[in-house]
Amino acid sequence: MNDGAADAAATHDYFAPCTLGLEAIVAEELAALRASSIEPRRGGVAFRGDRRLGYAANLWLRAAVRVQQRVLDVPVRGKEELYAAVSSVEWERWLDVDGTLAIDGSVRDSTITHSGFAALTAKDAICDRFRRATGRRPSVDTVAPRLPIKLVLQRDRLQLYLNLSGESLHKRGWRPIQVKSPLNEAIAAGLLLASGWDRKSALVDPMCGSGTFVVEAACLAADRAPGLLRRFAFEQFPDFDARAWSILRADAGERAQRSLPFPILGADRHPGAIELAKRSVRAAQVEGLVELRCCDVETLEPPPPPFTLVTNPPWGERLGEGEDLRASWEALGHLLHRRARGCTAWVLSGNAELPRLLGLKARRKFPVMDGPIECRFLRYDVFTTAEADQAPSSPPSSSSPSPPASPSSA
Ligand SMILES: C[S@@+](CC[C@H](N)C(=O)[O-])C[C@H]1O[C@@H](n2cnc3c(N)ncnc32)[C@H](O)[C@@H]1O
Repeated sequence: MNDGAADAAATHDYFAPCTLGLEAIVAEELAALRASSIEPRRGGVAFRGDRRLGYAANLWLRAAVRVQQRVLDVPVRGKEELYAAVSSVEWERWLDVDGTLAIDGSVRDSTITHSGFAALTAKDAICDRFRRATGRRPSVDTVAPRLPIKLVLQRDRLQLYLNLSGESLHKRGWRPIQVKSPLNEAIAAGLLLASGWDRKSALVDPMCGSGTFVVEAACLAADRAPGLLRRFAFEQFPDFDARAWSILRADAGERAQRSLPFPILGADRHPGAIELAKRSVRAAQVEGLVELRCCDVETLEPPPPPFTLVTNPPWGERLGEGEDLRASWEALGHLLHRRARGCTAWVLSGNAELPRLLGLKARRKFPVMDGPIECRFLRYDVFTTAEADQAPSSPPSSSSPSPPASPSSA
């Protein structure tokens, strides 16, 4: 076996960080990719596999924000040991001397207490290794490094990872411009996966804003790889296996369905939001799969039931207090009561009070962080009239605080 083939077959340790709350979802995605030794941890999932799996994880993971390959895991106490440990790694496998690097460090409960100091020491060790071998050294580029490195020093144990993704995986390459209050694509996809939507029946977001849920839903239902439209850091590594990557991309291209036998509908009362959503849908190449309407939730006519409703109404933290939040939530409640009988609704809220205005009892509460905001993704089973007659009556203010359900229960 030549070196390239041996590299391709070698098993690596990976870690895929994600938003707190989505670990079990990422673990399920990794199981579908046939990763081994899948181990959900707080804020991400560890797994093992070959180089091809590392590439596939970048191309296919919807709910993770990065894929990192571990290249070192050793105990270190103090600067000299850290420098020596970092120097021992064969960095030339992933970086040319003319390339650039950046190190993102985090340090906890260790002899070295400052993450900047740890990152600087590691950078010196890497650059000195190159200088000893070639007389020259790579430079630092904190904006778009060819080799982004993650350094974790915890209880005097050093772990170094190659950030194979580069930019966060939530940046799919389809969002035309940064908008005011978009939902992160990876969170939106993770919540759609958590909702248990069967991807064979209609999905509606009546407050779709820039369209994150509907675009992610279309990609999910059409089996479209979330990474098809973007580039990844590993494509610039000297050990990049272009052939393996092009096979993976070609397979993904063939899998992507061009049409769906059910509607994915997004609506919003704000014409500017619908304009943005249209641009997102176009850029994501899911135009034929998503219908967009500019209308108030009060007047929205959803498709015939059963459908799944997934939405992220305004809750005030992001859009400011000036908005008529109560009216928006009450209008959503009217839609659920009057025009969504027999459907399942999932509503994301970062505010504990507003969901009460829906007048329905949440059947499940899925905790998830949206940036610094602790949110709940709430499931409502909207009964048909006949079911409602048989069901025990539930008070309107039923989303009262209760212990967060484990995300793995969803
Ligand atoms: C938090 S934003 C949704 C963000 C969206 N998930 C995204 O990815 O961009 C809430 C959206 O609800 C819309 N909205 C509020 N009240 C509404 C109503 N009564 N009818 C329709 N849309 C409404 C707002 O225009 C806003 O775009």
